[in-house]
Amino acid sequence: MNISEIQNKILELKKEKDVCILAHSYQAREICEIADFTGDSYKLSVDASKVTNKNILMCGVRFMAETCKILSPDKTVYLAQPSAGCQMADQMDKEMISSVKEMYPDYAVVAYINTTADLKTICDVCVTSSSAVKIVSNMPEKNILFIPDCNLGDYVSRQLPDKNFKLLHGGCPIHACVTAEDVKKAKAQFPNAELLVHPECQPAVVDLADYVGSTSGIMNYAKNSDKKEFIIGTEISIAEHLQYDCPDKKFHILTQKLICPNMKATTLMDVFNCLKGEGGEEIILDEQTITDAKKCIDEMIRLGG
Ligand code: 13P
Ligand code: SF4
Repeated sequence: MNISEIQNKILELKKEKDVCILAHSYQAREICEIADFTGDSYKLSVDASKVTNKNILMCGVRFMAETCKILSPDKTVYLAQPSAGCQMADQMDKEMISSVKEMYPDYAVVAYINTTADLKTICDVCVTSSSAVKIVSNMPEKNILFIPDCNLGDYVSRQLPDKNFKLLHGGCPIHACVTAEDVKKAKAQFPNAELLVHPECQPAVVDLADYVGSTSGIMNYAKNSDKKEFIIGTEISIAEHLQYDCPDKKFHILTQKLICPNMKATTLMDVFNCLKGEGGEEIILDEQTITDAKKCIDEMIRLGG
């Protein structure tokens, strides 16, 4: 079978089995094409809470499928590729953050959505890269313990100088390995291009950018800009999607280091196999975890809405 034949089979099966497919924008083009909803972490969370189908199939990484289950506990939620984790989400667990909380009892814990469901149970508010500044700014608390991404935390803290931030040493190894030297090389190669970067990049990289924002933020900025050429400082799929959507503009990848192996672990065949009942993993979370983790996700949607 070729790609479009597999895609047609997927479309038939998802209708027959009442499945809604969600795909993060870091997924490959052929997967985004068969999805009901695509977008960044924030948009997918809001979309997941509104799904009317009996089943949800997440094409992304494990914490995204867990978020779907927390928001739609009565639905059957599948992760298309069980090995797709997130290296950042795996860096900090509930035990570690419980002891940090004891050291800073008067700090509200703000958790990037790239955390496990278990860790979310002890956090006050969740944020995504597109909503973090707005949500933290809307919080009444002045003292913020921001976990796990110190680069995103640094970016948010610089926008909100009236708050006190404590940051821990975590982050996305894919975005964090981009250096100012990589930026200088890309700018020398494409001197007319604007640089758009994700706030998971190091401050030294963020400081050189023309625009800093989430996956959707970067895509919207490039689509709506009068400029014709861009260097994209986030996962390489974003440059590919933008090139399809805006054929009259030019999109360059900041560095080939920006490939997330977990986001690339899911294939179209995984989606097909999962729909056939021959692959994927059903996400199972106990009731207490769902109830406790939901509080900080609901708070995210309330403060970010
Ligand atoms: P977004 O919140 O921009 O979708 O980012 C998710 C992610 O995993 C970034 O690495
Ligand atoms: Fe996690 Fe980084 Fe991959 Fe995003 S790009 S899923 S933060 S490892």
